[in-house]
Amino acid sequence: MKGKIHNRTVFEPEKATVLSIRELTNQEKLFELELDNGESLDHKPGQFIELYLPGYGEAPFSISSSPTKDGPFELCIRAVGRVTNALHRLDRGEKVGIRGPFGNGFPVESLKGQDLLFIGGGLGLAPLRSFINYVLSKKEDYGVTTVLYGCKNPLQRIFTSELERWKELKALDCIETVDRCPVDIDWEGEVGVITKLIPRVDLDPETSYAIVCGPPVMYKFVMQELDKKNLPDDHRFLSLERRMRCGIGECGHCQIGEYYVCRDGPVFNYADIKDEEEAI
Ligand SMILES: Cc1cc2nc3c(=O)[nH]c(=O)nc-3n(C[C@H](O)[C@H](O)[C@H](O)COP(=O)(O)OP(=O)(O)OC[C@H]3O[C@@H](n4cnc5c(N)ncnc54)[C@H](O)[C@@H]3O)c2cc1C
Ligand code: FES
Repeated sequence: MKGKIHNRTVFEPEKATVLSIRELTNQEKLFELELDNGESLDHKPGQFIELYLPGYGEAPFSISSSPTKDGPFELCIRAVGRVTNALHRLDRGEKVGIRGPFGNGFPVESLKGQDLLFIGGGLGLAPLRSFINYVLSKKEDYGVTTVLYGCKNPLQRIFTSELERWKELKALDCIETVDRCPVDIDWEGEVGVITKLIPRVDLDPETSYAIVCGPPVMYKFVMQELDKKNLPDDHRFLSLERRMRCGIGECGHCQIGEYYVCRDGPVFNYADIKDEEEAI
């Protein structure tokens, strides 16, 4: 794969400016960025970019804002290591480099008219948020929409104000759970792992599609619950994460069986990858 994606090269980062930084939890910050060339990112929900920070290196991040939102785009970044901790120390106005968008994204067009069940765990809500807000801005194009979100405890919830807004909307059902809740924290939602919410969803296997993103441990148990609902394998889309380098299918770093996650994913149809040993 050579040359350009839109007007940007796949190898040369495009300069971008940090417009704002919002703390979501003590581990995650939401970065609003704008390309210095004035172009919009022109991404699909579920795609990712490679972000380059001079002096520290490059790392892939899902685009968390919907393409229906004009201008700047958003990344939700958890501080875990060298690049991400350095990003958390940035201030407004500082410059980074952006390559992409890369990957296939969610099949937003072919899912039109269908019922959607979003299942997000922890930071997995970041890419799902792009698709959920896309659906909300084109509500007439999609059927019944349900969002299930789970994280370890109430302090680790990301996009809290948006989750509260979604719960108020008639356009979708949003149910949250936490694995456990410390006694000194107020929490009126559910307690228990996210798979406990799935039996409560009224799901028509013919018209429903599940869109899943979360920590690796979650997928196997979510698939088991969806089996109990008789949801066909090809009605399940999973966004997977692997360590990456090039982001464009050249280095083999992100390989799962015959697939490169950066090029063939990160979104996979479960029917295609269920027999790949390392996929889930
Ligand atoms: C397609 C894709 C989308 C992603 N989207 C997001 C996102 O929206 N927000 C976000 O915060 N992160 C996201 N990540 C993960 C992010 O890329 C890593 O956290 C980042 O590369 C870590 O870089 P670092 O230099 O800070 O950490 P390092 O110093 O390189 O590593 C710190 C620790 O994290 C582990 N680690 C690093 N990368 C990964 C990984 N990909 N999977 C598992 N463990 C890893 C290392 O083994 C090490 O233990 C995504 C990754 C991929 C592949
Ligand atoms: S990161 Fe190089 S092939 Fe996927």
